[in-house]
Amino acid sequence: LDVYAVAGNPIAHSKSPTIHQLFAKQAEQKMHYGRLQIDLNHFANAAQSFFAAGGKGMNVTVPFKLDARDFADLLSPRAQLAGAVNTLSIQEGKIYGDNTDGAGLVRDLHAQGIELQGKRILMLGAGGAARGVLGPLLEQSPKCMTVANRSNAKATELVELFGELAKKYQVTLESCTLAQLEDSGTTNSPWDLIINATAASLGDSSPIGSQAASKIFSPGSFAYDMVYGKPTLFMQQALQGGARVSDGLGMLVEQAADAFLIWRGSNLSQAIDPRAILVELR
Ligand code: ATR
Repeated sequence: LDVYAVAGNPIAHSKSPTIHQLFAKQAEQKMHYGRLQIDLNHFANAAQSFFAAGGKGMNVTVPFKLDARDFADLLSPRAQLAGAVNTLSIQEGKIYGDNTDGAGLVRDLHAQGIELQGKRILMLGAGGAARGVLGPLLEQSPKCMTVANRSNAKATELVELFGELAKKYQVTLESCTLAQLEDSGTTNSPWDLIINATAASLGDSSPIGSQAASKIFSPGSFAYDMVYGKPTLFMQQALQGGARVSDGLGMLVEQAADAFLIWRGSNLSQAIDPRAILVELR
């Protein structure tokens, strides 16, 4: 039986085992998918043991996505750009690191009727979660994207890092601080899509104050919080502003679909139905 696992810390509440069991059922695949709680600073050892014992593939979540990048022998271009790995597989005897988060987000947005071409995107946050999805978003050729972060340095760094890609897809990419966003707005506003990629929702807060919220959200805009499992303050603000909202559960399912196909073969893409699984999870 081929063995897979999701590695993280904490990991007890991860929905990934359920999701992959449902994919396996849809595609009639015999496989085992478990949870791996790894102590901080021990990722490489644990991953080494897992693959040495015959493990075929691993999903990686908080806080090990950078460790997984360092652990991989080879990286996909999108994992390189994301600077993080969420899917490890074995390709020709080597550990291959990929990142399916951004593709998962884009597919979830499409499934919810949100097209990105020519649109104005506001990305809140400039940490690992934001960096992980920026490439696939830019490749959709939005009109412009603003990366707004609490601290300025990380936002400017990201914009620099993705400058070339933005140019290639003719996207006006700019950075600002959350405070600037609240004070003066930016040249790129108003927004069609506002993505919360900060860790604020985990601590029950929102990256934007209530006054700024009334400027940022509007009827016709779409607000996406990458977290799932609860209605967040960010989502409540967005609803109050008349925006449509989504949590990140669809992204979780869609990134898992890509991982499943990397491991079990892309020929199974017709056999799986991520949207049906999303309905089942809700
Ligand atoms: P992750 O992998 O979740 O992105 P990270 O790399 O530590 O984790 O990044 C966390 C992000 O959330 C950062 O953009 C952080 O802002 P700073 O760079 O200024 O620290 C942002 N963040 C965390 N808590 C926040 C809060 N309460 N309000 C606004 N932004 C917050």
